[in-house]
Amino acid sequence: MATIGKNVYNAACISCHGANLEGSNLYGNVPSLVNLKDRIDKPQLIKTLKNGKGVMPSFGTLSENALNALSAYLLQTEEKNNNKDVAATWPYPYTFGGYKRFIAPDGLAAINPPWGQLSAIDLNLGEIKWQVTLGNVDSIKIASIAQTGTENYGGPIVTAGNLIFIAATTDSKIRAFDKSTGKELWSAKLPAPGFSTPATFSKNGKQYIVTAAGGGKIGQRSSGYYVAYAL
Ligand code: HEC
Repeated sequence: MATIGKNVYNAACISCHGANLEGSNLYGNVPSLVNLKDRIDKPQLIKTLKNGKGVMPSFGTLSENALNALSAYLLQTEEKNNNKDVAATWPYPYTFGGYKRFIAPDGLAAINPPWGQLSAIDLNLGEIKWQVTLGNVDSIKIASIAQTGTENYGGPIVTAGNLIFIAATTDSKIRAFDKSTGKELWSAKLPAPGFSTPATFSKNGKQYIVTAAGGGKIGQRSSGYYVAYAL
């Protein structure tokens, strides 16, 4: 049976630092807490927990008892018989193991495609007007799957000329769609995925689309480019 410290850990820390203190790459780099006692002492640990650190929020609302039990667990000074109050902190026989993607060994989604779609919703009728697959994993060559779609981060914009522009996909493309039909009309390759929403502006009577192509997330290439296209 888990100790109180372990139960506090399971409730408050496991989502980022992992089920076995191994750390994760959820928020940039969440450090491992294995052998923490070799790096910091109890006052330093309590201070880190009360103040928070980087992306890690403060845990100042944990009770003194919870903080003591937690540091005993992490710094390996737990006494054998402090199992008494377990039910009060975490009464369940299971714990949350962190935010995990459901992926196959090849790193791709473990469900059937499409893995990303663009949908036009008629807000007056509350109906999907059209829905198309967005993006493609080019390494997949299966005759029955013309386009896989990809995980996507970034929104579309609509121009007065009835065009929708969206990047967002991991295949590093920006695309234009016909607003009425969803037909893909144009695409161009970006230096990295455009996990962003494009913007449009006009200068000297000419209209432009610009998008940030920073990539970086979910194992994708990073870049520092803004890419603009003249319409
Ligand atoms: C939202 C995710 C998140 C949660 C929840 C979280 N941490 Fe962290 N933790 C981090 C990140 C990220 C860092 C690295 C901060 C930095 O150095 O910028 C960190 C750093 C630490 C460090 C410093 C490690 C070192 O080697 O310097 C300790 C100790 C720590 N966390 C303990 C805990 C404990 C105990 C809990 C639960 C009460 C917890 N964390 C909950 C994300 C999290």
